[in-house]
Amino acid sequence: MKKIIIAIDGYSSCGKSTLANQLAKKLNYIFIDSGAMYRAITLYFLRNHIDWNKPNEVKKALLEIHLDFEFEEETNQSSILLNGENVAALIRDMLVSENVSAVSTIKEVREFAVAQQQQMGKKKGIVMDGRDIGTTVFPNAALKIFVTADIATRVERRFKEMLEKKIIATIEEVQNNLEMRDYIDSNREFSPLRKAVDARILDNTMLTREEQLKLALSWAKEKIEL
Ligand code: DC
Repeated sequence: MKKIIIAIDGYSSCGKSTLANQLAKKLNYIFIDSGAMYRAITLYFLRNHIDWNKPNEVKKALLEIHLDFEFEEETNQSSILLNGENVAALIRDMLVSENVSAVSTIKEVREFAVAQQQQMGKKKGIVMDGRDIGTTVFPNAALKIFVTADIATRVERRFKEMLEKKIIATIEEVQNNLEMRDYIDSNREFSPLRKAVDARILDNTMLTREEQLKLALSWAKEKIEL
């Protein structure tokens, strides 16, 4: 059967990764959470006290970073490895969330991540979610989906997810972080968050996970069976 690239973009915490993961499982495709790559880079910078306002420090640091994804049978999830270490839980920390948008504005960081993402898409059969997947990483993706949900819904979902993972934060902190990231992600100079002109909008404010999957799956099948 024909294999395609599915690009999923949208604001923070609107369920992009959940949808991408479910779609990939149904289609037997590879799922890549591109945000996890920016988060892992941010974690490396924080741990190693890299001053990301200095381009030379950034360039040197990027040479030391190796990112991989590892599939875990047990959880049926893929985890990101930073220089061989599974950092899937650590990259969800509030400190990483507070700094990741700033790190993601850096041209060298974006070039580093985008080159690896494009390499992963060479064989097609991939669902990737992020902010610039349909516009910059895979401008020719067969299916592009722009996911949205209203801010109150996104804050509530993110807050619940953090509680489950025992990450301590108040509702106000979660809302401030989401709004700040949406602002920085949409206003940065290099590949800002935009809906690709040919992306389909999926507003999931009133949809269950199953309903949004059904809709996206029908769009994917249209393209695969073309
Ligand atoms: O998807 P996420 O919330 O885990 O992403 C974390 C941050 O990474 C997000 O605030 C902006 C950045 N990001 C990006 O700039 N481009 C992408 N393709 C994915 C994420």
